[in-house]
Amino acid sequence: MNSQQMYEHLKSMVGNVVPDGEIRYKAEIAVEINRLKKERNAVILGHNYMEPILYNSISDFVGDSLELSRKAAATDKDVIVFCGVKFMAETAKILNPTKTVLLPADAGCSLAASITAADVRALKERFPGVPVVTYVNTYADVKAESDICCTSGNAVAVVESLGSQTVIFLPDEFLAGNVARETGKHIIFPTLTIPDAPSSDLDYQMIGWNGRCEVHEKYTLDDITRVREQYPDVLILAHPECSPEVTAACDFSGSTMAMIKYVENTHAPHYLLLTECSMGENIAAANPDKNMLRLCMVRCPHMNQITMENTLESLQQNKIVIEVPEEIRVRAVRAVERMIAIG
Ligand code: 13P
Ligand code: SF4
Repeated sequence: MNSQQMYEHLKSMVGNVVPDGEIRYKAEIAVEINRLKKERNAVILGHNYMEPILYNSISDFVGDSLELSRKAAATDKDVIVFCGVKFMAETAKILNPTKTVLLPADAGCSLAASITAADVRALKERFPGVPVVTYVNTYADVKAESDICCTSGNAVAVVESLGSQTVIFLPDEFLAGNVARETGKHIIFPTLTIPDAPSSDLDYQMIGWNGRCEVHEKYTLDDITRVREQYPDVLILAHPECSPEVTAACDFSGSTMAMIKYVENTHAPHYLLLTECSMGENIAAANPDKNMLRLCMVRCPHMNQITMENTLESLQQNKIVIEVPEEIRVRAVRAVERMIAIG
C-alpha cells in the first residue's frame, strides 16, 4: 500500500473520528512502519486502547490482553512489537522467549506498580497453602510467585477452576471485588504491617490487595446516574477494573474485547463506555451508525505513550528490547500457560 492508498484506507476506517490532516500525516508513517515490519519479519500486536490510526493501520492483530497473549505465543515471526504496556510485552517474552520483543516506549501501569514479588511472598507466608491468582497486569517477578494468572476476560473462570474455598487474588482491589460478587465469595484486604486476627479466625474466602487502575477508579455512581437522567435509554458498559458499585449499576461489564463485541451485537440508541477513551474512538469508528457518548475522564497516560512515531523508531532502532531473566521466566510461564489453557 502506498501513502495515498493508506490515506484512503484510513479515511474509510476512521474518517468519522480523526481529522483529515492527522490521517494524511500518519498515513505516511504507517507505510514506512509496514515496510520495515516486512523487512524485519515482525508482527505488531495492538491493544484495544491504541489510538485509532495505529489500531487501524499497522496492527496485525488487535485485542484484549488475553487474545494478544495467545497471538504472542503462536507467532513464528522473528520480532514482536507490542503496542501496549510493559506487562503485556513481558507476557509475550515469557510465552515466546526466543523472539525479540520490542516495546516502543517505557509504558508502565498503575496496577502492575502496586505490588512486588516480596509482597506476594509475604502473603503466601501469612496464608500458607492458599492458591495465588494474579492479574496479568503485573510484572514477571510477581507472576513467577503465582499459581495461575488471569485477565479481565477469564478471572471468574480461573478462580472457579481452582476448586478452592479460599484464594489470594492480586493486585486489583476492584477486579477482586467484582469476581468475589460473581463467585459468591467474601473478600478481605489484609494489611501486612498491622497484624489482624489470626487467619484461622477470619471469615474470608478471597484475599485481595489494594491496587487500582488509575483510569477506571475515576468512574463513579454519580457519573452513571447523571447520564441515565439525560439519556434514559442508554446502555452503559464498564471494564471490571471499575468499582463493584459502578459495575453493578451498569448494563454490561467485561474485558475490552467483550465490550467491543457487546456493542457490535446490540442495538441501542446510545452507548456509554466506562473505560479508557481511545477504545471509545475505535468503537465509534467501527460502528458509525451507533451513538457513542464520551465520558473521557482520563486517557491512560501509559497506553498514551505508544505512538506511530515511536513505533517506527522502535523498528528502526530495535528498542526497547524486553528481557525477562530465565530463572523468573520459567516460573512465570507456568502461571501464564495454566491461564491460557483455561481460556
Ligand atoms: P483487557 O485485558 O480487558 O484488555 O484490559 C487490559 C487493561 O489494561 C485494562 O485497563
Ligand atoms: Fe494499567 Fe489502567 Fe492503563 Fe490498563 S488502563 S494499562 S490497568 S493504568
